[in-house]
Amino acid sequence: QEIEAAISAADANNPEELEAYRMEFISKKSVVGQLFGMMREIPNEEKKAFGQLVNGVKQAAEAKFQELIEKVNSGSKKSGRRGLDLTLPPGNQAMGSIHPLTATRRRIIEIFERIGFNLSEGPEIEDDWHNFTALNFPENHPAREMQDTFFIEKNPDIALRTHTSSVQVRVMENQKPPIRTLSPGRVYRNEAISARAHCIFHQVEGLYVDENVGFADLKNTLYHFAKEMFGKETKVRFRPSYFPFTEPSAEIDISCLICGGKGCNVCKGSGWVEIGGSGMVDPNVLENCGIDSKKYTGFAFGMGIERITMLKYQVNDLRLFTENDVRFLRQFSSLS
Ligand code: PHE
Repeated sequence: QEIEAAISAADANNPEELEAYRMEFISKKSVVGQLFGMMREIPNEEKKAFGQLVNGVKQAAEAKFQELIEKVNSGSKKSGRRGLDLTLPPGNQAMGSIHPLTATRRRIIEIFERIGFNLSEGPEIEDDWHNFTALNFPENHPAREMQDTFFIEKNPDIALRTHTSSVQVRVMENQKPPIRTLSPGRVYRNEAISARAHCIFHQVEGLYVDENVGFADLKNTLYHFAKEMFGKETKVRFRPSYFPFTEPSAEIDISCLICGGKGCNVCKGSGWVEIGGSGMVDPNVLENCGIDSKKYTGFAFGMGIERITMLKYQVNDLRLFTENDVRFLRQFSSLS
């Protein structure tokens, strides 16, 4: 009776306690095991009754053991721990991963840092001078109108910057040539959201000002970038264009890596995707920033990080970057 009371009072919450129970009530050396050992000393006429009693205790001990095994197992399933073994390697932690736009930005920076560009930044809330006037925008240029620009204040105008070219101005105002700088950042335009465009996106600006910088330097720098970013086979095309702050100006196109030229919603069947604008810095802009335009020349470019990421990873809808759908983001979990 004493042993049965001890059995029904026994408890176990982990494998160690389970083993202690087994030693105490189940094993040969346990109290129950010892009862069987006493059989020899019991007079023959009492053996049967004693045996029945001891068997009853043994069954109670085993039933309880099963109960405790189940309890410990279900507890370990719930808490996810099977005992505590400090020598085991840690299990997989559910970690977040690098966002594809971040990975692309880092790769762009790496490519340009290796050829001597440093990093610079400017504010996302800009004044009219840095976003427009210093960049040679005529007074009534359509880009100043409400449809393109998110204004915060009028007279004097304060707006969300529409491009990272504003950082060019800030760098040239504060540094003397030679200047080789890269300015990544977020920009804003009052545009309809589609598979190819968003009202918030990212650009990376490049600026190179020194003596004797020519258009060939611009082309070769961007050829080098395209090869490093997209691979040696990638085609680059410069298309004549216009920007108030560069002369001559050119749009930069990359052969469409999403459809391989077969035609898709991003290249609109043309086989080419525009990734940004570029050109020789207009002498007016150099002078506006206090740089002698007779001594120095420069080139500049501004590229869209979303577009570059779309080409690099064959993403055919730019909205995916900001929807935070884990089914999309998980596809980039190997990026670092
Ligand atoms: N700022 C221009 C744009 O956003 C791109 C550009 C940058 C063009 C530098 C020429 C030189 O469209």
